[in-house]
Amino acid sequence: MKFFIDTANLDQIREAQSLGVLDGVTTNPSLMAKEGITGEKNIIEHYVKICELVDGDVSAEVIAVDFAGMVKEGEHLASLHPQIVVKIPMIEEGVKALKYFYDAGIKTNCTLVFSTGQALLAAKAGATYVSPFIGRLDDNSTDGLELIEDIRLVFDNYSYGTEILAASVRHTMHIVNCAKIGADVMTGPLSAIKGLLNHPLTDIGLEKFLSDYRKGN
Ligand code: G3P
Repeated sequence: MKFFIDTANLDQIREAQSLGVLDGVTTNPSLMAKEGITGEKNIIEHYVKICELVDGDVSAEVIAVDFAGMVKEGEHLASLHPQIVVKIPMIEEGVKALKYFYDAGIKTNCTLVFSTGQALLAAKAGATYVSPFIGRLDDNSTDGLELIEDIRLVFDNYSYGTEILAASVRHTMHIVNCAKIGADVMTGPLSAIKGLLNHPLTDIGLEKFLSDYRKGN
């Protein structure tokens, strides 16, 4: 499973990259705003900075909600850096844009996916990634992981090339369960990724090994 970090915070991206397990970055307008990055020029510059920090795919979201606007914006974003993946919302005009970018050989990430039907449509349109938001479903008394399972089943039935990018991952067990189900990618916060390190028996065991070593030296 690929690991993407879901943030626009450069320090956190650097830290995840230095762990050696980072495969890409996802961002969205809310994450940009959280870092105080506003205005088209600053946002564009920030995407380029992120691309220069990591080796993998970096999702950059269009703001337009009409086909022509998405195409114009998406083509501009894609021209910024070879690692840019154009992030398109799951709306009717977005589906048309996904197909347009597929034909143009530009990678896409279909965002704001909350149902298997939406994921199927995105795959049919040739999306590179489809992003089901599991945390936001959990917030609404609906099992986000069940959606990942259903999409996995549908995509495997027809060998769709679209990758399932589990998004809105909130904690470490989301990551573990996504891996068990077979999500192709997960994107989450640094805290959830670093949570994979934790086990008290590791800490206790290491302390014991080191104290025994010290006794003999
Ligand atoms: O990857 C999608 C993500 O940015 C949304 O996460 O935590 O706002 O639901 P969240």
